[in-house]
Amino acid sequence: MRDTLTAPPARTQVPIRHLTGPQALDRALIEHLLARAAAFEQGVAMEAVPLSGRLLATVFYEPSTRTRFSFEAAMHRLGGQVLSAENATGASSAAKGESLEDAIRVIGSYADGIVLRHPEVGAAERAARVAPVPVINAGDGPGSHPTQALLDLYTIEKELGRLDHLRIGLAGDLRHGRTVRSLALLLARFPGNELVLISPPALRLGADVTAALNEAQQGMRETADLGGAIADLDVLYQTRIQAERFESSEEYERHRGVYVVNADLMRRLPERAILMHPLPRLDEIDPRVDADPRAAYFRQARNGLWVRMAVLDWAMGR
Ligand code: CP
Repeated sequence: MRDTLTAPPARTQVPIRHLTGPQALDRALIEHLLARAAAFEQGVAMEAVPLSGRLLATVFYEPSTRTRFSFEAAMHRLGGQVLSAENATGASSAAKGESLEDAIRVIGSYADGIVLRHPEVGAAERAARVAPVPVINAGDGPGSHPTQALLDLYTIEKELGRLDHLRIGLAGDLRHGRTVRSLALLLARFPGNELVLISPPALRLGADVTAALNEAQQGMRETADLGGAIADLDVLYQTRIQAERFESSEEYERHRGVYVVNADLMRRLPERAILMHPLPRLDEIDPRVDADPRAAYFRQARNGLWVRMAVLDWAMGR
């Protein structure tokens, strides 16, 4: 006879909610997460602490300021606790040659969710295949950065009142910039937007993303001329030339400083428009622009807190 006292509990069939890339974010889920983020910002979703007793592991194989701190702050604000590897490459058993898969299996047996940043494209997908808990992609090399794209949408909607029928200029290193790759795909979920892809020829947006945009019948055009494109934009999304992704320092130096947003350029940006940047910035936005009310990048970084609260609540809530 079966001993019901010692029988293992029945397995639940609830699917694990991973967020490994923009493909996981359809319009309904985006709208749910943005509404939830707004509720957290307004304090109306905090009558209970939704993640009390839950433990999040933040596992970062690449440096970060905004993403790691905002996820950790979000988890604490939701009543949960955090285990953190801020330098997993040098200070975890990755330094002894442990595979990502083995590390994730083990970390997933201690924590209730994993936020992962890794230098390899597809790392979050690999992690999600073996993880017993939700995996959230916090940036996989030059692949994707879905929670950054969500906070970018949140910022655009908050600043401009809508996510459709906008002309958005994505400028800089579109080849290596995971934030623009993810943002372009999410903007295509909303009607009437036009993307202006502004980059030198060698730093154009990858064919994998432009093919997906074409399939979604997303209006877009490419140009290398930032000054010529700026006058009819609603959003200028400036990005860093990513030194760490180039094969040689000579190649990086060829592109460094290609676009600098300064007071002269800001005079040509419409009064209604905003200037965004995922940060960190180097020299591609003159700090004297920070005082311009259209400079939204520090407000944008702050919005990461509310959006990541919404993402953790969705992925890890009971
Ligand atoms: N925008 C962004 O991902 O910043 P961090 O690299 O500081 O996390």
